[in-house]
Amino acid sequence: MDVDHQQSFRQALGSFATGVTIATTLDDQGNPVGVTASSFNSVSLDPPLVLWSLAKDSNSRAAFADSGHFAVHVLAASQEALSNRFAKTGEDKFGGMDWDRGKLGSPVFAEHAALFECATRHQYDGGDHIIIVGEVVDFEARDEAPLLFHGGRYADHRPRGSAGDADDVNNRTGAQRLALAAATLEQALAASNSPELPADDIDAMRRVIAHLQDSASG
Ligand SMILES: Cc1cc2nc3c(=O)[nH]c(=O)nc-3n(C[C@H](O)[C@H](O)[C@H](O)COP(=O)(O)O)c2cc1C
Repeated sequence: MDVDHQQSFRQALGSFATGVTIATTLDDQGNPVGVTASSFNSVSLDPPLVLWSLAKDSNSRAAFADSGHFAVHVLAASQEALSNRFAKTGEDKFGGMDWDRGKLGSPVFAEHAALFECATRHQYDGGDHIIIVGEVVDFEARDEAPLLFHGGRYADHRPRGSAGDADDVNNRTGAQRLALAAATLEQALAASNSPELPADDIDAMRRVIAHLQDSASG
């Protein structure tokens, strides 16, 4: 595949939105090892299996291939800095961090949206990655907004609600819908690169927001 084609392949793959995890294990000296990975996914309920893939040129490859166990931390929206830290080869990733040994020995952090402790069951060749399948021996989940990744960037969590859900937009009163529209516009304004927006457009958006807020409260 030529470089341009590889670039567009990577971009196309990036349209699949994922969460972000940090997978951890121990190397043969007992040192903690960890890697940021968005390739995590569920495989099987019975037995409980999960998978993720690790680049063959990763410094952490030998540790994950040989240890026989790993832990996957699903990151919360507030953990972007930790994600970046574990995505840098050669960093002292665990320096200054609090961690414990989990059930099988893998390093486990206190902060996460969910934690899966796994025994390594299979490793498959996957081109320039190895595919690691683990059996979950213990897990924990918390009610936290997840860190998301989409189009090569971190993304915000925007729950949609489901049919019949009390939080569904269709179940809201008119005033609630107007307030929601105002909040959504405010978020869009805050998220856009305001200095690059013409001042007239910003003023117009602010007027619409104020009007929606007035209508919602009155
Ligand atoms: C959001 C995000 C997702 C990533 N997902 C993966 C992945 O699934 N597999 C992988 O091998 N590397 C992935 N990486 C890159 C690794 O985290 C990065 O190469 C890391 O430096 C490897 O560390 P090591 O060389 O110390 O083992 C991802 C990076 C980011 C920022």
